[in-house]
Amino acid sequence: MAIRLGDTAPDFTAETTDGTLHFHEWKSGSWAILFSHPKDFTPVCTTELGAVAKMKPEFDKRNVKVIGLSVDPLGAHEEWSQDIAETQGMAPNFPMIADPDRTVADLYDMIHENASDTMTVRTVFVVGPDDKIKLTLTYPASTGRNFDEILRVIDSLQLTAGYSVATPVNWNDGDDVIIAPALTDEEADAKFPKGYDKQRPYLRVTPQPNR
Ligand code: BEZ
Repeated sequence: MAIRLGDTAPDFTAETTDGTLHFHEWKSGSWAILFSHPKDFTPVCTTELGAVAKMKPEFDKRNVKVIGLSVDPLGAHEEWSQDIAETQGMAPNFPMIADPDRTVADLYDMIHENASDTMTVRTVFVVGPDDKIKLTLTYPASTGRNFDEILRVIDSLQLTAGYSVATPVNWNDGDDVIIAPALTDEEADAKFPKGYDKQRPYLRVTPQPNR
């Protein structure tokens, strides 16, 4: 069954390039990005994994752990890592799940038979510290993902988890935000001492509260 926002991320035990790992135990208390790629030794995937490795300081800053997956065996992941280092300038510095028997891929519905019955599609699951699914994305094999966008969503998720706000179109960290419609003006006055621009009763814009 498809995994939906708010579901508990299914737990699993898997062989990875960092050894055997139990997902919930591994991520305990952190945010996590679990993402699948179609196949080792393919060009788009090679660029993605190199780029994700270079973004590690950004993930660390946000308390996010990253874990990749394909249905290739561990030996292939390890051999391919050298290619990624040589062509992209950095080897993966996060665990990659080897899932040749598709246990995790099936658990997370990562194989879409009408796209390919042998490869995982490009899925992304962002999982919160509470182990709940906060974001799902599915991309076709031919389109590399934009991990800056995934970071942007995590910034929004982390902000909106702590304040009664939502983030508008094309928002980036530091931009103005929207006061949650559920708050009355009196509550908004108390919670947002910097004030707000009331463009409509339901559209109240305020500076990002943690800046
Ligand atoms: C790629 O990563 O380049 C790729 C993988 C599977 C199908 C098409 C492209």
